[in-house]
Amino acid sequence: MHDEHGAVEAEPDGRPPPSADLLALHAPALLHEAQVGLFVLDVVDQRILYANPYFAELVGRSPEELLTIPVLDMVEPEYRDLVATRLHERIAGKPVAPYTVIGRRKDGTNFDAHIAGRRLEVDGRLALVVTITDLSDYNRVLRETQRIQAQKEAAEAAAEAKSRFLAAVNHDLRQPLHAIELISTALRRNLVHPAALRLCDRIDQAATSMTALLDSLLDVYRLDSGALHPNVRAFPAGDLFRDLGSEFGPMARERGLRLRVTHTAKTVVSDPAILHRILANLVNNALRYTRQGSVQIVCRRDAAGVRIEVRDSGPGIARDEHERIFDEFTRGTSSADFPPGTGLGLNIVSRMASALQAPVVLRSEPGRGSVFAIVLPRSPDLATPDADRRADPAPATLSRFNETD
Ligand SMILES: Nc1ncnc2c1ncn2[C@@H]1O[C@H](COP(=O)(O)OP(=O)(O)OP(=O)(O)O)[C@@H](O)[C@H]1O
Ligand SMILES: [Mg+2]
Repeated sequence: MHDEHGAVEAEPDGRPPPSADLLALHAPALLHEAQVGLFVLDVVDQRILYANPYFAELVGRSPEELLTIPVLDMVEPEYRDLVATRLHERIAGKPVAPYTVIGRRKDGTNFDAHIAGRRLEVDGRLALVVTITDLSDYNRVLRETQRIQAQKEAAEAAAEAKSRFLAAVNHDLRQPLHAIELISTALRRNLVHPAALRLCDRIDQAATSMTALLDSLLDVYRLDSGALHPNVRAFPAGDLFRDLGSEFGPMARERGLRLRVTHTAKTVVSDPAILHRILANLVNNALRYTRQGSVQIVCRRDAAGVRIEVRDSGPGIARDEHERIFDEFTRGTSSADFPPGTGLGLNIVSRMASALQAPVVLRSEPGRGSVFAIVLPRSPDLATPDADRRADPAPATLSRFNETD
């Protein structure tokens, strides 16, 4: 069974064609159909004796035209000497490994030509049979892969350098900060004059805000560099609340506010360290921008999972600022009368919450306080039923109230 070029097709039932000297019978058709460029070159005048359609198409010329032009015309000028040398070596019977040059089409465009050849005799005349494979696509992909790999390596090296730099900054700044706090405590013991003690307070405040800024910068760095990998597990919300209570109790006292931490026996499924950073930012804001009244940390069940709320009786936030305040370096009108901040806190909150796949919800109106809530999704694989256990007692300075579901 033959098609229009005389090529042998498989029988309709898939059986191999009748055995015959396939090559001898069908060589012209096979060469014609080959999906690789192929031509036969006369070694005497270096003219093409035969070229298959694939090669003609590759170099953008008709098969007839190919019989009339020098073979070197199909190579970029800077490769012609090389190709001529290899041709002579082949003609002389020397072994020549396949090699790649830049081929040239009739329209002046290029392709990556991988050349392999064999010497043979045709009707008593010496000829070369040459196959040309177009490696342009392959090389393009290879170059792109190498470029991406180089970019990736450069980015990794930069991230590593940045990471080392930040670790050094973190270490080198925290130590003197800690020293300042210790010196201030020692100094306070030796001072009686109220003006001098007020100066000590200012030293403490400056050290505290530098520590907070350093924490924020490290958070931003972790988020930017993708170094924040949530380590999700089930843990008692009560432990987290107790830590927040101890951490922010002194700040609440100093500001004359009540910090009320819910007693909860709920188990939450999240990354405790990241959740701590989120809630610490929210509690810090609440205590910072509330002039009187209280700040509460509440935990309740939600249709989507567990909802942790930080509520305050502060100035509230106008609706048209609800989205904007989550932007980087953006502060709202409620903070206008307060000491300068960087406007990073809520941006860190929302980015960390995204990493935990936990939406942050804000409910607030001017003059009516604010509620920032984070909704922790259920994770049935990891979630354990609420343990019927009591949370550790909160520090004495904190008022506590029982949760309501
Ligand atoms: N509980 C809150 N009550 C009223 N306004 C708030 C509250 N929390 C945040 N805001 C408003 O949102 C703004 C952005 O808060 P964010 O924590 O991002 O930055 P910041 O507190 O100004 O600075 P920092 O980077 O030091 O946290 C604040 O400047 C403030 O106007
Ligand atoms: Mg803040």
